[in-house]
Amino acid sequence: MAEIDNLKTMILALCEKNGWIWKSHIESVVRYSLELADKLDSDKKVVELAAWLHDIEKLEGKRENHHITGAKKAEKILKTMNYPEETIEKVKHCILTHSSDKNYPPKTIEAKIVASADALSHFDNFLALAHSCAVRGESIKETKQSLSRKYESCWDKLMPEAKIMADTKYNAIKLILGEKQVLDKRRL
Ligand SMILES: [Fe+2]
Ligand SMILES: [Fe+2]
Repeated sequence: MAEIDNLKTMILALCEKNGWIWKSHIESVVRYSLELADKLDSDKKVVELAAWLHDIEKLEGKRENHHITGAKKAEKILKTMNYPEETIEKVKHCILTHSSDKNYPPKTIEAKIVASADALSHFDNFLALAHSCAVRGESIKETKQSLSRKYESCWDKLMPEAKIMADTKYNAIKLILGEKQVLDKRRL
């Protein structure tokens, strides 16, 4: 079994413990990362490893600074799998910079891809994000405000190639949130 398959098995087992939304999130981050890596001149192996590992700390129940502690955790895991030092450093940078922390902006193409893929996956999870607002006890008005802020920050995180991929969904979400008006063609 290839090392990457061991990693997938480990992450998917963690997703299983955390509920369906996590499997869907991680798999879509991997899928979007690989799609962007195909379009751009980048190290596909680094992108794939970072996509699988980017939320490892959240999957283990540690939310605070998960990008910082997650980069260290990924280093430990990848060392045990004998990945080259250079690959490990590149993966660490992707994980450290994926979560919109202004102190750690993505500097490499691989890091920009993983940060974009992370944001892209949220455009597929509108209902899950709305549901989590309801679970937190937010009113309809608060839910609209939370979702509006969330999607604006996701949009800002996207690289130009990813903005093209998310454009239709972003506009649809803005329409649902009442931030965009559509002309009713039947009345024209
Ligand atoms: Fe994250
Ligand atoms: Fe994520």
